[in-house]
Amino acid sequence: MSEPTSNRVLFAASEAFPLIKTGGLGDVAGSLPRALQGLKQDVRLILPAYTDVLARAGRLKTVAEFSIRHHSVRLLAGTLPGSRVPVWLVDYPELYDRPGHPYLGPDGKPWPDNALRYTFFAEAVVQVANKQLGLDWQPDVVHCNDWQTGLIPALLSLQAQRPATVFTIHNLAYQGTFPYQTYLDLGLSPDLWHLNALEYHGQLSFIKGGLVFADRINTVSPSYAREIQTPEFGYGLDGLLRHRKAALSGILNGIDLKEWNPGTDPFLAETYNRRSLSNKAVNKSALQQNLGLQPDADTLLIGFVGRLVEQKGVDILLDGMKQILSLPIQLAMLGSGEAQFETAMSEIAVQHAGRVAVKIGYSESLAHQIEAGSDVFLMPSRFEPCGLNQMYSMRYGTPPIVRQVGGLADTVIDANDANVKAKTATGFVFSGELGTDLYKTIARACDLYVDKSKWKSVQLAGMGHD
Ligand code: ADP
Ligand code: GLC
Repeated sequence: MSEPTSNRVLFAASEAFPLIKTGGLGDVAGSLPRALQGLKQDVRLILPAYTDVLARAGRLKTVAEFSIRHHSVRLLAGTLPGSRVPVWLVDYPELYDRPGHPYLGPDGKPWPDNALRYTFFAEAVVQVANKQLGLDWQPDVVHCNDWQTGLIPALLSLQAQRPATVFTIHNLAYQGTFPYQTYLDLGLSPDLWHLNALEYHGQLSFIKGGLVFADRINTVSPSYAREIQTPEFGYGLDGLLRHRKAALSGILNGIDLKEWNPGTDPFLAETYNRRSLSNKAVNKSALQQNLGLQPDADTLLIGFVGRLVEQKGVDILLDGMKQILSLPIQLAMLGSGEAQFETAMSEIAVQHAGRVAVKIGYSESLAHQIEAGSDVFLMPSRFEPCGLNQMYSMRYGTPPIVRQVGGLADTVIDANDANVKAKTATGFVFSGELGTDLYKTIARACDLYVDKSKWKSVQLAGMGHD
């Protein structure tokens, strides 16, 4: 095989693990640059210098001082912890020196100046991309991710000479829309205010900057690439995406095999692999104990980790809860999100103490422990661009129960009779959007769980899956 050509890629993102993470975007922005580097690509990551990022980034060096909107800004250089990926941080404390969540303030609401924060970031990236800062490196490609980076392709389009741009849609539901007044306040070029640019029904749409102006658009699974061209999943942008169909592709995310490896995971009570799968039971009993669930090796323990929002199908779970609880199961849930879902789930945990445990919050360690200690992993998402948790869970010998959408449909093979017999099944797939559809699938998992040899073959198929 011939060596791939080396390109200089500037990977722009609003979060990247382990510096800062709110969800799968952070995982991908932390692992894809490393994987590309492994393919001999010359990749650099660029992020806003949020407080937590500065605290975790290790040694940093100021490599440029420049000005944006007459404010002086520093570009700091370091390395993504645990890797050799160079990281650049756009340091402007007034906008980024805020601890905790990158997008939300302490009141749980988006920072009121988010439009300015990500315009400012885009303007910094454009200066780096166009070699205006005297750095000895200029990208061939700028890889943008989600709405926070949407203005980058738009602003670059105004320049005579520019690198190529790629825009990845991790989630079309988040578009970065703001009132027209914000557009005026930001003083963006009037050339960008029209239907075929940033205007969206009279509002400013950041994501349109990526969808209209990037040379290539991609999303994180083949199914989602098709779905977003339909009104059901297109969130008002399906027409635009159909129009850009020739430039649009769907490429499945990969997972970080180092970070998510049951054989070496430091968060687990006991590590295990395909040959020592029986050690998984130690993690189940540790999880039951840690969460106050009844110690019981034989009851199917269902795990859930994720944002408690409609996307993740929490309402489908709630709709089916009564029926689901009539099955011999336990439920361990970790997540945070909309207050209505947090409250409803917490109440169920109180009513069914010992069988249902709900932790509201964010915990990297508990997320790993739930992946390892559960018997099945639940993801009944209404839509799912890719989904990483179902891939982690397959790797952890924890077959996922998923709804047949997006990346879930592309990654999980249903345990129907034929697939179980052929030893290709890796989880449980259902369609429909009623609680009873989910209930029937969990019942199917309960039935198969009793057949230890068939169950093990489903676990092993998932653990061996690329
Ligand atoms: P999404 O990006 O839509 O939230 P993904 O499945 O792609 O969904 O990725 C979610 C990532 O965020 C996973 O790494 C998951 O473990 C992590 N995660 C989500 N919620 C929590 C939480 N409450 N605590 C710890 N990790 C979480
Ligand atoms: C988004 C999507 C999720 C995807 C992740 C990484 O947050 O909701 O499905 O796995 O981005 O691409």
